Amino acid sequence: MNAARLHLLLHVFLSAGVLVRAFDPFTVTSSLFGISAALGRTIYDYFRHKGCDPESIVFNATGLQLDLQTKLFRQHIASRVILKAVTGFMSNDNPKKPLVLSLHGPSGTGKSFVSQLIADNIYKEGMDSSFVHVFTSELHFPHSSHLDTYKLQQWIKGNVTNCGRSMFIFDEMDKMQPGLIDSIKPYLDYHENLDGVSYRKAIFIFLSNAGREGIIQTALDFWKAGQDREELELKDLETVLSVSVFNNKNSYFSSLIDKNPVDFFIPFLPLEYRHVIECALAEMKARGVPPDRNVAEQVARDVVYDLKTESVFSVKGCKTISSKVDYYT
Ligand SMILES: Nc1ncnc2c1ncn2[C@@H]1O[C@H](COP(=O)(O)OP(=O)(O)O)[C@@H](O)[C@H]1O
Ligand SMILES: [Mg+2]
Repeated sequence: MNAARLHLLLHVFLSAGVLVRAFDPFTVTSSLFGISAALGRTIYDYFRHKGCDPESIVFNATGLQLDLQTKLFRQHIASRVILKAVTGFMSNDNPKKPLVLSLHGPSGTGKSFVSQLIADNIYKEGMDSSFVHVFTSELHFPHSSHLDTYKLQQWIKGNVTNCGRSMFIFDEMDKMQPGLIDSIKPYLDYHENLDGVSYRKAIFIFLSNAGREGIIQTALDFWKAGQDREELELKDLETVLSVSVFNNKNSYFSSLIDKNPVDFFIPFLPLEYRHVIECALAEMKARGVPPDRNVAEQVARDVVYDLKTESVFSVKGCKTISSKVDYYT
């Protein structure tokens, strides 16, 4: 595309009042939707020439391994599965389908955090990379409609057209409208290409609390039996995940299950008092404050523990630690 044409294109786009930022269809108002849909293809085509910036996408397998070992606490199953899945996928130049990970567990246990670690080790700019896209259903589409479905599909298509090695994180999957989930299904599957676009190098990560009760119960049974939590294996949790997730008609999996495009279901375990202490110490370290055990214990005592688990597990994991560290330091 020559400069004059690009200039004209951008002029039309900007004068239409559309924000040109990462070509995110969510910023397009519905009255302008027709214009943007017509322009969308041309804009994406232009960016196809640009493609992904190879210098900003360099997978660092050792970096991911180190981050999982040192920054993500007490999630031995998730660490292992994620390292294997991401490393395998990123080392393959010609994957048959996109990588689809589904992360489950109570809140504050590291699901969003680990997504960030993955992004940090693939994209130079981590979560700030223009190839990493976060979708939160409640924020983006509180009321689902056909237009939303179309916009979501265009958003995925546009971003993957721009760069095949794109990463999509869908937060709060369990709150997402089934119609919206249905609309992303085709992109997750084995297809050479769809409408001329190949999705096979993309990564989709779904985050949800679905299955949390089963995970908590299993972890509690282990704890009560005096077994080390590190002895818990993926297979111990796969059964509970499938019972509470797949058999639940309201769960998003009932929509995804028929073709089952999810490569890995990854459980996140609830965190205990001693783990909250670790989070608080890490938070102080990250701020450059000398880690103080007394402060960390104070923070951990302040956290609410789930009575249903005999107060063994923190209700919100390590979620509110940062503000509590603020308070005590
Ligand atoms: N397993 C963990 N290891 C280290 N830090 C954690 C862990 N779980 C939670 N945290 C801390 O708590 C914060 C909130 O966790 P987050 O990943 O957002 O929870 P969620 O599982 O609900 O997505 C993170 O940013 C991180 O600082
Ligand atoms: Mg989260």
